[in-house]
Amino acid sequence: MKIGVLRESDSNERRVALVPETVERLVKAGHEVFIENSAGLAAGFPDQAYENAGAQTVPSVEVSKSVDIFVHVQPPTVDEIKALKIGCLMVSMFNARNDASNMSLLASAGVTAIAMELVPRIARAQRMDALSSQASISGYKAALLAANALGKYLPMMMTAAGTIPPAKILVLGAGVAGLQAIATARRLGAIVEAFDVRAAAGEQVESLGAKFIHPPKSEDAEGSGGYAREQTEDEQHLQRLFIKEHLADVDALITTAAIPGKPAPILITTEMIDAMRPGSVVIDLAAESGGNVEGTTPGKIINMNGVSIHGPINVPSSMPFHSSQLYSRNVMALLDLIIDKKDKTLNLNLEDEVIDATCIVHLGEVRHKFNS
Ligand code: NAI
Repeated sequence: MKIGVLRESDSNERRVALVPETVERLVKAGHEVFIENSAGLAAGFPDQAYENAGAQTVPSVEVSKSVDIFVHVQPPTVDEIKALKIGCLMVSMFNARNDASNMSLLASAGVTAIAMELVPRIARAQRMDALSSQASISGYKAALLAANALGKYLPMMMTAAGTIPPAKILVLGAGVAGLQAIATARRLGAIVEAFDVRAAAGEQVESLGAKFIHPPKSEDAEGSGGYAREQTEDEQHLQRLFIKEHLADVDALITTAAIPGKPAPILITTEMIDAMRPGSVVIDLAAESGGNVEGTTPGKIINMNGVSIHGPINVPSSMPFHSSQLYSRNVMALLDLIIDKKDKTLNLNLEDEVIDATCIVHLGEVRHKFNS
């Protein structure tokens, strides 16, 4: 099959959908790969590396008119969708839960679309789970952003001028990103506490050497698919009172709480920020879906009574080499599922749980309806 990658059109996106390592596998399996000139440069993969792996590096128009399968990172723009060849397959993140207009455009373009963000959380699909691979990078980076912004050491330091105690970090939301933030902050020597509404997160938090904190008598809020359910007003109230007590004592707060398909829950009000010491740092990883902190401004750092609140966006793009490599491996695992190895043709079995969940548009027909 002919498989192609275009340069991401969002100027803030440094990732590329396929890296040379994956291209080599595809070429060895008998496929042709077309990469738009310089598509991987911002991620650290020059054209030469793709050519060495067996790809052809060509202008964008050549990619658009040649390929059967497009692979992308960011949801495509209207122009990118219009340029798609009728009947082709596009594999990308589509933000399908939140943007239905994308789906109708894809349908009118007569294409098939597989949304990487909809890979179900089942053991068989772990290798394809792009949300997890990218969230893990965000969590790692969140700890580094906190360390960098804080005017303090993270580890305990014994110096000739006396001992410096370790910094204290509180992580809210101990899913994939939160656990990686905890692990990274622990490696840097901080004392870490974490809270999650899912009781199952407790054991994972403790296994990383952090303390799991939770309001007394709080109920487990695990919903379907291992995700959290939305909290009731009462639960949110109790949770805020409980967290506020901890905030006075922390140097950095990292928030990662999310409910799939919903705006991020507000866990920290401005009144709670007032409880923090001046000089403390907040890294709100949920900034893109509204933020866990009242006042978070996506893409900006704001100062509230001496506390700096960071609302980083597209964090995986800030580590584009490894985020692209992992995404590319996720895509490869998905291509392994949908391309027949013998015939080298597309075999989209819509009854397969993974394909059913991710295939949002099939040959011009919208297959899923989300509440957006
Ligand atoms: P996510 O990005 O949807 O949410 C992040 C975290 O925020 C979750 O742990 C969630 O419980 C927590 N949260 C939501 N509301 C909260 C609140 N009000 N206060 C505090 N925390 C709150 O979740 P993510 O990271 O995608 O993972 C969710 C679950 O799925 C985890 O148990 C993870 O281990 C599991 N998972 C399973 C996989 C598999 O089996 N293939 C792959 C990846 C994740």
